[in-house]
Amino acid sequence: MSRKVHVRTFGCQMNEYDSRKMVDILRDRLGFEPTDDAAEADLILFNTCSVREKAQEKVFTDLGRVRELKAARPGVLVGVGGCVASQEGAQIVARAPHVDLVFGPQTLHRLPDLIARRVDSGQAQVDVSFPEIEKFDHLPPARAEGPTAFVSVMEGCSKYCSFCIVPYTRGEEVSRPLEDVLTEVAELAARGVREVTLLGQNVNAWRAPLDGVEEGDFTLLLECVADIPGIERIRYTTSHPREFGPRLAEAHARLPALAPHVHLPVQSGSDRILAAMKRGYTALEYRSIVRRLRSARPDISITSDFIVGFPGETEEDFERTMALAADLRFDGSFCFMYSRRPGTPAAALPDDVPDVEKRRRVQALQALVDGHAAEISRSMVGRRERVLVTGRSRRRASELAARTGNNRVVNFPGAERLVGQFIDLRITEALAHSLRGEPMTTEPACSLDEDPA
Ligand code: SAM
Ligand code: F3S
Repeated sequence: MSRKVHVRTFGCQMNEYDSRKMVDILRDRLGFEPTDDAAEADLILFNTCSVREKAQEKVFTDLGRVRELKAARPGVLVGVGGCVASQEGAQIVARAPHVDLVFGPQTLHRLPDLIARRVDSGQAQVDVSFPEIEKFDHLPPARAEGPTAFVSVMEGCSKYCSFCIVPYTRGEEVSRPLEDVLTEVAELAARGVREVTLLGQNVNAWRAPLDGVEEGDFTLLLECVADIPGIERIRYTTSHPREFGPRLAEAHARLPALAPHVHLPVQSGSDRILAAMKRGYTALEYRSIVRRLRSARPDISITSDFIVGFPGETEEDFERTMALAADLRFDGSFCFMYSRRPGTPAAALPDDVPDVEKRRRVQALQALVDGHAAEISRSMVGRRERVLVTGRSRRRASELAARTGNNRVVNFPGAERLVGQFIDLRITEALAHSLRGEPMTTEPACSLDEDPA
């Protein structure tokens, strides 16, 4: 019987991607099968997030629970990967001695070796180094499960926003070579993938040497991916405003495959706070990127991230954030309360906005943006939408689920054979977290030999 691995993922889409790759590697190299049930697993992996304190502490609480599982079945191995592992390294084993493996986001491909060394030596193994792009070279070929897939195009972040731990846990920006990305996308397309999401912590910071003189930018990468036969829709996340030049905005007018959706974190509407965050743009510059995107693609949906309660954020600063959100009418957002991260520059500043005030601000901002997103959903009712049918509906097994260009789920009655295809739906209803639709047929309403009168 094959051994089983259970992976518990915290945090961002990069971690979701890495978790899938861990399973692929362990399956390919050691024959492990994934399981959702930690109690039956031979190997339990935590892929952790340290971007906010809460997420980090949750890892240690959950690790405590696994200790009992391990006490009952001593052969079980426990591993901690991701950003908490990268930050804490061997400290994790000191705090939770039942942990056998500690590996970072850039060393997950070494998991089989770490397991072998753990078994041979009986000692916990820690490897949280940053061996540049080596990770990509050691990953098994892309697997496709359905018509959509994620493709990582760059790793790490060199922006060093003053509040953020990511540059320290994932290392500096490293781009994956152009040919490698294109080969992976082409392989996925050959296996039926119709929509790819290009992933990176700062995806539009992707760069590649072209001919020794020129450098290729992210827009060039998008153009190349759009040329791959079979790829009908391209998404990318997360983009950074500092790298969002006019060429990228204009690509949304030129490349029909580009989904009409961009996630573009703004963090704050106050220039004073943006400067203290070291974001590298002003609120006006951010607004002009949005204007350019909307003139390139009038139906584009823009979502964002915000942090409220950054050190020194006054009521007036917050009002500027509310004004920016009111003006730009985002189609969704993640609003976070500032969380002090030891080791970041902002950690030296007094965390002086009281928790109750942070909570009030986050609720007010989230409610404003959610209101806009709901209005956008309602405005879609009656509209014709090009959607990718992704599988059976989670709500009703007799129905199918699809994704709109602006990243909403639509449930509709339809035949199984439509899965994996782009079709046109008419939106009939907007619900809180999804839409309902009905297929639009391009066939004539009545057969030709009927008398239309
Ligand atoms: N690369 C993305 C960008 O362009 O900004 C951000 C990636 S970060 C992992 C995801 C989000 O977490 C950020 O956009 C920010 O809103 C939030 N975040 C990061 N550090 C935080 C902190 N110390 N406290 C609260 N939220 C934080
Ligand atoms: Fe973090 Fe800023 Fe990079 S939010 S991931 S340091 S762009």
